[in-house]
Amino acid sequence: MKLRVLSAAILVLTVAGVCISALQTTRSVRDGVFTEDQRKRGAELVAQRCAACHGADLNGGEEAPALYGANFMANWNGLTVGDLAERIRISMPPTDPDINNAQQRADMISVILSVNGYPSGTKDLESRTELLKQIKIEPRQ
Ligand code: HEC
Repeated sequence: MKLRVLSAAILVLTVAGVCISALQTTRSVRDGVFTEDQRKRGAELVAQRCAACHGADLNGGEEAPALYGANFMANWNGLTVGDLAERIRISMPPTDPDINNAQQRADMISVILSVNGYPSGTKDLESRTELLKQIKIEPRQ
């Protein structure tokens, strides 16, 4: 009898564990985490605030790197969109990182994801860092 209770308890705990990890399961940049409208809004901001250094298509400039491609992926693979948002919040543009609010950063990240070849979807990318931290950056398939 005790054994049954014990195994039932273990089963319940296992199921709960699986559910919790499913909830926390990171989404991925492959899942269509931004919308096309958002990308367009972001593109205007990128043109004003990032393109002078990173290039009109974020293809890199004299000093600033391209925000896509092998080097970019080597820096960001395995991290999250939240990490990328934090990086931008703290340091970009270098002369005035406070200029962007969280929503604007999310919009600009849509552009970065798009130039990296990730698909758009039906929901805007959230602006809250905690949520963005659940979205994993991984190479395109
Ligand atoms: C004044 C020039 C300048 C501007 C404007 C600028 N950046 Fe940068 N950015 C750099 C330089 C230089 C680096 C590389 C050195 C460093 O990491 O600080 C960089 C690095 C980055 C990186 C890290 C790239 C990697 O491979 O890890 C990201 C992301 C980034 N910038 C995003 C942005 C965004 C988004 C904007 C617009 C809001 C922006 N930058 C505006 C100069 C600039």
